[in-house]
Amino acid sequence: FGPCGGCLWQNLDYARQLEAKAAQVRDCLVRLGGIEDPPLRAALPAPAPYGYRNKMEFSFADRAWDEPDSRFGVGLHARGRFDKVVNNTECHIAPAWMTEVLNSVRELALASGLPPSEMRTHGGFFRFLVLRDGRHTGERMAHLITWPAAPGSIEERSVDEILGAVAARHPELTSLLHGTTGSKSSVAYCESWRTVHGLPVIHERLLDHVFEIGPNTFFQTNSQQAERLFNLALELAGPKVGLAWDLYCGVGALTLPLARQANHVVGAELIGASIEAARANATRNGVTNVEFVAIDMKEALSESGLVDRDGTLVSGRPDLVLVDPPRDGMHADVTAGLIRLAPPRIVYVSCNPGTLARDAARLAEGGYRMDVAVPVDMFPQTAHVEMVARFIVG
Ligand SMILES: C[S@@+](CC[C@H](N)C(=O)[O-])C[C@H]1O[C@@H](n2cnc3c(N)ncnc32)[C@H](O)[C@@H]1O
Repeated sequence: FGPCGGCLWQNLDYARQLEAKAAQVRDCLVRLGGIEDPPLRAALPAPAPYGYRNKMEFSFADRAWDEPDSRFGVGLHARGRFDKVVNNTECHIAPAWMTEVLNSVRELALASGLPPSEMRTHGGFFRFLVLRDGRHTGERMAHLITWPAAPGSIEERSVDEILGAVAARHPELTSLLHGTTGSKSSVAYCESWRTVHGLPVIHERLLDHVFEIGPNTFFQTNSQQAERLFNLALELAGPKVGLAWDLYCGVGALTLPLARQANHVVGAELIGASIEAARANATRNGVTNVEFVAIDMKEALSESGLVDRDGTLVSGRPDLVLVDPPRDGMHADVTAGLIRLAPPRIVYVSCNPGTLARDAARLAEGGYRMDVAVPVDMFPQTAHVEMVARFIVG
């Protein structure tokens, strides 16, 4: 797989990848978590080690890897390089349609004469191409992100032409969007967007619930394995409880199935748009025993429960807490808040065993013990490993 920085483990047999990930998790729990003999179950393999991703983010750059004359590239970053991309013509962790659309966009964007992003000066025009797949619904999105363009400008008309041609070549695309961002960040996030062709969103179905996915929505990137991850988290959550919390809930992908295992569930999440989407997702799926709060988790826990941004109590002490924080893990105020509220069970879904292990050590100081931990392979061919762990009191 040469210089592409997208996935570095393709040269390792899949069984060896799983072993290495399990060893990585064990090592984190022992060294960072201070757990002498971690209660590890066997790693949960991915059902499809290739073609599994439902989202790919490709970057444009004025320097293509190993093509000295090419001033135009769009693909994944070359390994260890922020300023160079590989002109990928195939990618084994994405479904085939994504590289076909990538190849079309590369050809059409190059022919437009408009420049790709200049990584060093933050100039140019084309920034990112984000492709998303409703794996279980058949809906597909192509989202071209550029620097801001004035309405009716040559740039905007060129984007319309490019996306019009892409829609004609790839009729399976249901949503073609033009997003813009003035941010120099290398994250494919847009500040505004418009629908050029088709619908503004796509949908994905996970565990019998249908979720709306917009251009900036966080959503699990491996739909098939996300269902297995969620089933595992729900199994560890145990029998039905009265009140459950789903912290860092995103658009409610785990909150809605959790609602079958509790009389009432409260989901909390930082991004207001995700909370609006979570509420709409609950309504769309007829789930009525959930409520959602937009709040930064580090300010959300009081002595008596979960509060909203005004400090008003939304929910008292829970019987079960499920958390799925970003890579940084939980803020120390969150672990301290949970220890004070003392829910009998905490189920922790993590995309970073290092921060989970740190949080496990903090929870242990507050009287919690990890009784099960399971590495889950969401991202075959890469070094990333997800895991689920359960904490109980005593
Ligand atoms: C790994 S995602 C999990 C989302 C959800 N459980 C799912 O499976 O779709 C982490 C979520 O935490 C949210 N988040 C990040 N920092 C946060 C904070 N300080 N307070 C609350 N939510 C936060 C992110 O916006 C993101 O939606």
